[in-house]
Amino acid sequence: MKHTPTVEYRSSQVRLLDQTRLPLEETVCVCRDVPSLIDAIRRLVVRGAPAIGVAAAHGAVLAADRRLEGPAADFEDGLRSDLAALRAARPTAVNLGWALDRMEKILAEVGGDDPPALRARLAAEAAAIEAEDIELCRRMGAHGAALLPEACTVITHCNTGALATAGIGTALGVLKTAHDQGKRLRVLADETRPLLQGARLTAWELQRWGIEVRVQADGAAGWALRTQGVDAVLVGADRIAANGDAANKIGTYPLAVLARRHGVPFYVVAPTSTLDPSLATGEAIPIEERGAEELTALGGRRTAPEGVGAFNPAFDVTPAELITAIVTERGVHRPPYETSLPKD
Ligand code: MRU
Repeated sequence: MKHTPTVEYRSSQVRLLDQTRLPLEETVCVCRDVPSLIDAIRRLVVRGAPAIGVAAAHGAVLAADRRLEGPAADFEDGLRSDLAALRAARPTAVNLGWALDRMEKILAEVGGDDPPALRARLAAEAAAIEAEDIELCRRMGAHGAALLPEACTVITHCNTGALATAGIGTALGVLKTAHDQGKRLRVLADETRPLLQGARLTAWELQRWGIEVRVQADGAAGWALRTQGVDAVLVGADRIAANGDAANKIGTYPLAVLARRHGVPFYVVAPTSTLDPSLATGEAIPIEERGAEELTALGGRRTAPEGVGAFNPAFDVTPAELITAIVTERGVHRPPYETSLPKD
């Protein structure tokens, strides 16, 4: 079942399925300018590393469209500052900068002397990024599904499906592919505190795909690994360093530690657009810290005493030594990742 597109560029607007409202409402957030798109990325209306990259690519076209309405003399500088602002929207997912690098390369090649011609090239590049992501998801799905037995129980964390990409997803794309191949899957979806991407989004997607899913508290993962016959843990990533250290949603690192403790394979599924070979290890990955209110209140009601602060990193880094394999669109990469991960 196909839902409203996760990201779409139509009528000079970036249109986003509003993921803050799922699963209760399927509504579209319409961004008519760059500041409103940046706000939507920060609020997680659109989220998930590849989807943020696709949204930013369309954001460059949006920027060009708005700048075309202003003075021609300001076009190129204005566009450059819009791209810089988009780049700063969220720090951890490298796909955002990766997509904007491609758009900036077009700007450098074509220049700003003929704004409509530049706009056309940017639109073609954004469409290409989106189409490529669909294909990368399909390939990751095929490589990853081959790792799963005919009948299996899997734990996943956060949301890595069609809501997080332009295609079928990364880790969830693997599960969808395995399901479509006739494999019998039972999925335990970590609810993924504090913003509940697992409970709200992963459960919604898997249910629509007809895959058996149960939600569990993040803290239940250890007990599930001990008692539920879990065959594999599959997660996505926001940025992977050259040595294979992988940043992903907060709570991924303890899940990897638990998987190792129980001898369960821990797979990271991500396209090569999520690789950052410029960073030798995960130490250098910037980790987004979000507001305390995500932890001190729930549904507008305080859950912690007035005046209490919060430590709220949105991501953690799983050391490569805990990762059984990294699946990209190019295949299944095993340690040592310094040599097995693609470099281009
Ligand atoms: O804060 P989010 O919801 O953008 O975090 C998303 C994740 O951590 C995903 O696991 C990751 O981006 C991979 S999505 C295919």
